[in-house]
Amino acid sequence: MFSLKAYAKVNLHLFVRSKRKDGFHSLDTLFERISLADTVSFSSRKDGRIVFTCTDSRLPVDQGNLVVRSATLLKERFKVKQGATLRLSKRVPLGSGMGGGSSDAAATLMGLNRLWKLGLSRHQLCLLGARIGSDVPFFLYNCSFARGTGRGERIAPLALKRRICLWHIIIVPRINVSTPLIYREWDKQGAFRLTKPGFDATIMCLAVKKNDLAGIEQCLFNSLEPVTRNLYPEVGRIREKLCGLGLKLILMSGSGPAVFGLTRSKKEAVAVRKQLMLEEKAWCVFVARTV
Ligand code: C5P
Repeated sequence: MFSLKAYAKVNLHLFVRSKRKDGFHSLDTLFERISLADTVSFSSRKDGRIVFTCTDSRLPVDQGNLVVRSATLLKERFKVKQGATLRLSKRVPLGSGMGGGSSDAAATLMGLNRLWKLGLSRHQLCLLGARIGSDVPFFLYNCSFARGTGRGERIAPLALKRRICLWHIIIVPRINVSTPLIYREWDKQGAFRLTKPGFDATIMCLAVKKNDLAGIEQCLFNSLEPVTRNLYPEVGRIREKLCGLGLKLILMSGSGPAVFGLTRSKKEAVAVRKQLMLEEKAWCVFVARTV
């Protein structure tokens, strides 16, 4: 038996370019892996079955679950005789824009590759992972930051000369946001398509490499934030609240509704969390760092 952490992500920059013929959207994004994580544990079974349990009863335990879907895909594609017992301990809020489900899928692919001694390369795992979700390949790279293009599945890890550690305060309101709905709204609200970042993902990558918070501030951008905020005003309220607490680097992650603020230190993030937990009981608040 062994277990793997399935880390969450935030997008420091997410530019939606256009809608593709296959219905997905062409993106330019910078992913950051953060310390908030689920855990997936693996043990082998001789009876060939995939047995799945989860700490969160809201999640399906059949093929509707990305862990089960990934395990089944791998087992069928490589005609694996062995089975596996998979346990998911959930911490990353569901449907929050932090890639929890995709990360669980990636951890499952990596864990079963090891458990079943399949010897698959990262490239092979990424091909399978991209069939599960656009964010899965990012989590298959053991890296802190990566540029994502295509529909987000083409990954180029950022080469860093030294470790970069950013501190985040992350707020998740208790609303469910459907990613397909947000992209459909983006399609409808043509005006937002004209919203372009002042600085692109390349400039953001340079700012991150230099650990330059002022540079990062200029490049924080998410094409989907105005769309989600328009549908769910609570997202805008989180931004205003963080702003009121003196934070400057604020952005929604993915299709939302999680909103994060970057702080100069862990101490500052912890102080903001303390304040928010007193004042806003309906929000989930996390402190996380780059991993
Ligand atoms: O790939 P993933 O499962 O994350 O995508 C969920 C949904 O989000 C897709 O079915 C699609 O509607 C939308 N999406 C998109 N363009 C992307 C990623 C996701 O339109 N690049």
